[in-house]
Amino acid sequence: MLIRVLGSAAGGGFPQWNCGCPNCRGLREGTARATARTQECVAVSADGCDWLLLNCSPEIRQQIESFPGLHPRGPRDSPIAGIVLTNGDLDHCLGLLSLRESHPLVVYATEAVRRGFVEDNVLYRTLERFPGQVTWRTLKLGGEDEIAGLGVAALAAPGKAPIHLEHRAPAGPEDNIALRIRERQTGRVLAYASAAAGVTEEMRRTFDAADAVFFDGTFWSSDELPALGLGTKRAEEMAHLPVGGPGGSLAHLAGVPARRRVYIHINNTNPMLREDSAERARVDAAGWEIAADGLEVRL
Ligand code: MLT
Ligand code: MN
Ligand code: ZN
Repeated sequence: MLIRVLGSAAGGGFPQWNCGCPNCRGLREGTARATARTQECVAVSADGCDWLLLNCSPEIRQQIESFPGLHPRGPRDSPIAGIVLTNGDLDHCLGLLSLRESHPLVVYATEAVRRGFVEDNVLYRTLERFPGQVTWRTLKLGGEDEIAGLGVAALAAPGKAPIHLEHRAPAGPEDNIALRIRERQTGRVLAYASAAAGVTEEMRRTFDAADAVFFDGTFWSSDELPALGLGTKRAEEMAHLPVGGPGGSLAHLAGVPARRRVYIHINNTNPMLREDSAERARVDAAGWEIAADGLEVRL
C-alpha cells in the first residue's frame, strides 16, 4: 500500500490567510524553521494506479497537480477511484465542489455526512450536471467496503458535526469517523483518524493492529488558541484531543506498536510545526512523525 500525503494542515492551512500567530508570521518572514502546508488530504493506493482520496480539501486542484500519480492518463480521465469523507467539515469536503468539470465521482461517506453536504445546499447542483455525476456509497459503522483493492472500514470516532451544521441535527456517531484501510493482497493496515476528540476501545484495538497510524495533530495543548488570543475555544470544544499534556495523544498512544505513527491535520498554531521547538523534540523522541505535504509511506 502506498500512502501519499497531499495536504497535512488543519483547516486554514499553514500559513493561514488571516493569521499572524508566531508560526504563521515566522514562516512568512523566514524566521521560523518550518514548512508551509496545505489542508489535509491523503491519497492511498494498493497498486499505484487507482487511488482513493481520504477527504477532499479546498486545495484539491493544486494537490492533484502536485502528484503525477493523480494526473489524467487520457483526454478525459482521473486515477481517482473514490473519495472517502471522514466528516462534514469544510476543510474535508469543500474540494468536491471544485471537481465539478463533468467527471463521474464516487464518494464514500456516512449517511449523516452525505445529508449534511447535499441537503439545503444549492451549490451541490454543480455536481448534478448529468445523471450519475456523483455516486454516493454509504459507509456503515462496523461494515467494510471494497475500493480498488482496499478494504475500507468506518469506525465511530469521538467528534462533532461541522460548525455550519451544529444544532441543526442531533449529534450522532456517524458525524465523525476513523478508517481502517486494509490492503487485500498483503493484509497491511492503515488506521486513519485525522479528527478525534478521544480514542475509543475499538479505535485503540485498530491502532494496535495497524502497520501505520495517522492521528489528529491539530493542537499541542487544550488552551492553544485562547493562550495566543486567537479565540475562545479549547481543543476539546473543537473535538480535537491535544497532542501534549498528561491526557494528550502522545501519552495516551505511547504503546501503539505501529511501524509508522504520523500526526496529520496540524493547526498552524501548533508549536510542534517548528523543527527546533521543544514540542517537536518530544514528538521525535516518542517515535512519532509530523506529516508534511508530499510525505510518502509505503507499507
Ligand atoms: C476542525 O477541524 O475543527 C474544523 O475543520 C474547524 C473548521 O471547520 O473551521
Ligand atoms: Mn479540520
Ligand atoms: Zn497562524
